[in-house]
Amino acid sequence: MSSGKTIDWIASKGAPLRGELAVPGDKSVSHRAIMLASLADGVSQVEGFLEGEDARATEAIFRRMGVRIDAPKAGSRIIHGIGIDGLRAPDGPLDCGNAGTGMRLLAGLLAGQSFDTTLVGDASLSKRPMRRVTAPLARMGARIDTGEGGVPPLRIHGGSALQGIDIETEVASAQVKSALLLAGLYARGTTTVREPHPTRDYTERMLQALGWPIEFSPGFARLEGGHRLLARDIAVPADFSSAAFFIVAATLVPGSDVRLQRVGMNPRRTGLLHVLRLMGADIEETPAGEQGGEPVSDLRVRHAPLRGIEVPVAHVADMIDEFPALFVAAACAQGTTTVRGAAELRVKESDRIATMATGLRALGARVDETPDGATIHGDSQLRGGSIDSHGDHRIAMSFAVAAQLSDGGVRIGDIANVATSFPGFDALARQAGFGLREG
Ligand code: S3P
Repeated sequence: MSSGKTIDWIASKGAPLRGELAVPGDKSVSHRAIMLASLADGVSQVEGFLEGEDARATEAIFRRMGVRIDAPKAGSRIIHGIGIDGLRAPDGPLDCGNAGTGMRLLAGLLAGQSFDTTLVGDASLSKRPMRRVTAPLARMGARIDTGEGGVPPLRIHGGSALQGIDIETEVASAQVKSALLLAGLYARGTTTVREPHPTRDYTERMLQALGWPIEFSPGFARLEGGHRLLARDIAVPADFSSAAFFIVAATLVPGSDVRLQRVGMNPRRTGLLHVLRLMGADIEETPAGEQGGEPVSDLRVRHAPLRGIEVPVAHVADMIDEFPALFVAAACAQGTTTVRGAAELRVKESDRIATMATGLRALGARVDETPDGATIHGDSQLRGGSIDSHGDHRIAMSFAVAAQLSDGGVRIGDIANVATSFPGFDALARQAGFGLREG
């Protein structure tokens, strides 16, 4: 993966999906575990840490700011917290890799430090909009320069006296909310964030678990600066977004029956389950207690025919990362599926409306794009073809799912970034029954 040569997958129809599958730890929780345990007083042990490139980039950044993080085995980290004011100036730019979450959360957190920092990212991250965090942070007194047009790199000037604000965010984004709350840890007074639609609340839950006083409810969070975080062990649940590829594949491939173990079921993440059920999916959910303060469930998914629907706009924020997989489900459903209110998909790791529409068309499906969504005409018999994943992990994995329904082989280009969120996807997919190999 380091030679500069891109890696492709050849995916094709495999066997019905079977067996018990354990998907890796949650990406959102892994980022936050590194950040908050680093700023805590004392030593925290993190289990279920995602060994993906995004979370590891964040880990490397905190090491460079003076935090000792031991990795006794895969999925485990021992983080020697250095206290809320303990970070030290790094010796050069900090590389967030492909991770929008890493960069946006760090923008807030680093705005409150006494030293200057620069955040850089890979080619995809270097095109993503950062004003959504830098503009509200500026209202708190942060000084952050962006590249031309509001994209990375971010040059964050330290030593700014931050002031709490009461703000309604323009976009429903957990990254924006979290950036403001993390800046709020260092601000004078109270920071209140109100959202147009509730988003995932992992930052709020973890701050609370580590002892920072915080008030929150769906779409609302409030905290004040000047407290401390206390080290605490963190158990990261399995990532619902990673499980989603197997949920969709098992639903679509006749004869499938899979079980997914202890999947994180934060209600702000599971919109896809509601939508697939509305389409006719057969998903059995058995609550399996809590992990790291999050509800987890065992899921059993059996093949079921799907019908197209109008995706309720109210579910969009709760399934924002699952649209690529949903597009595949919709192409194979009976009838038409309409997605609206999802313009955010255009500024993810790729323009996910365009990349999915183009890729599905290449496999013979009919998809009409709209500015904030798409109309996906179902009843497609997908055929083989070539797909450009645009270096987007979720696009690559979604087309590996689509290939399980296609008549011919599908070449999926540029898949290296699958390792950002789901290292080992290909091996687990083959274990489940996928036809999938490097090519
Ligand atoms: C994330 C928030 C979402 C999501 C991303 C992870 C987070 O992004 O798409 O994969 O961990 O806070 P937005 O905040 O841009 O919606």
